[in-house]
Amino acid sequence: MLVDQSTSRRNFLKFLAGSPLLAYAGRPSFAGETPSRFPDPMIWAPPSTGELIKSPKDAINVFDFEPVAFKNVPPAHFGYMASGIDDEVTLRVNREAFNRLVLRPRRLVDVSTVDPAMELFGVKWETPIIIAPTGGNRAFHEDGELAVARAAKARRHLQILSTSASTSVDDVTKERGMPIWFQLYASPSWEVANALVRRAEAAGCPVVVLTVDRVAGRNQETFFRLRRVDSRECTNCHEFTIQGRARTRPNYDGIDLSAMKSMESSNLTWDFVRRLRDSTRMKVVVKGILTAEDAKLCVENGVDGVIVSNHGARGEDSGGATIDVLPEVVQAVGGRIPVLVDSGFRRGTDIVKALALGASGVCIGRPYLWVLGAFGQAGVERVLELMRTELVVAMKQCGVRSIGELTPAFVRRAT
Ligand SMILES: Cc1cc2nc3c(=O)[nH]c(=O)nc-3n(C[C@H](O)[C@H](O)[C@H](O)COP(=O)(O)O)c2cc1C
Repeated sequence: MLVDQSTSRRNFLKFLAGSPLLAYAGRPSFAGETPSRFPDPMIWAPPSTGELIKSPKDAINVFDFEPVAFKNVPPAHFGYMASGIDDEVTLRVNREAFNRLVLRPRRLVDVSTVDPAMELFGVKWETPIIIAPTGGNRAFHEDGELAVARAAKARRHLQILSTSASTSVDDVTKERGMPIWFQLYASPSWEVANALVRRAEAAGCPVVVLTVDRVAGRNQETFFRLRRVDSRECTNCHEFTIQGRARTRPNYDGIDLSAMKSMESSNLTWDFVRRLRDSTRMKVVVKGILTAEDAKLCVENGVDGVIVSNHGARGEDSGGATIDVLPEVVQAVGGRIPVLVDSGFRRGTDIVKALALGASGVCIGRPYLWVLGAFGQAGVERVLELMRTELVVAMKQCGVRSIGELTPAFVRRAT
């Protein structure tokens, strides 16, 4: 998948030469990943000097990996990962919203020992940083999800595997060396969903994460533009029928997809959620909740947990950041089930803000994909290390020793 890139790279550089992107003095981040509200205050050491880091340990923060991934990964694949949709308003707002929240640190607390551990469904994890499900990781590195699993194992993180993974749930579980969570794209067919659920159960997954926010097509403009400058022929590796797409997604192996016209679950309703809950011994977590109304319905329908997520700004583009809706979801749930959150989390302070606002844990997507494309497993480990280190520092600075001590009083709106 990652071979023969020199021509596409040349074409891409030609494209860049004529692009307004070059007028931007910072790193080539199509997605505007860094918050844009403030100008760079440090003119003597700008984040982008044109030099790419050479090894994971050179990274000062997670953003350092994005331009390396941009160099290593074919334009179409990089574009697929970086893309939000439409004008990418939500993509930017996911990051900018953190700037509108300020921490209220407490002083004179002994924080010489800090434990950022999280407990979820009776299992204790060393940190609340969770690997979000992302499809087709072999588009970024030949070891794909296996490299992510090895990193999760080495750094002892909870991993959620996508239905659309390029490696099966059985193989990733083996590599991880302990149970992982399985993310379910239900598809329009109960039979297909049920077969996927049975596969996850057989692999020993304790939790199924039902993604409910991919019910329509999407205009991934960044992806489509970068695909145009990728000289490789997509059809050499990809088939665009449902059955053809599924052939590169081993979780569908052996499942009859002949009657399926689409993979989008446009027909999902609360009936499906109840049927799923009643058909499995796994805990059911619903991913993609953005309102108090739906959070309440999750509880009423026997769901075990929710993930506040806008799919990394890949659902709709109305500019709603997940950190801004987290409090209404937490309030609606009222402590009855855990609330996780994702979309735009890059810094330890982002995580502390979410935990203070009531999240039990935080999932990360693109940061581990950047670094997977940049350096493979060792890079994923480094991202997890950087985020954990930043989290602990932010906790210490706030005067908290465990995430249980974080309350909404540690956060205020910026004036
Ligand atoms: C390239 C890519 C693929 C994704 N694939 C899936 C998927 O298969 N299933 C799913 O539920 N979410 C998927 N997501 C969404 C992530 O689980 C997560 O919600 C999102 O990446 C978090 O935002 P962040 O990338 O800003 O951290 C994907 C996201 C990206 C960037």
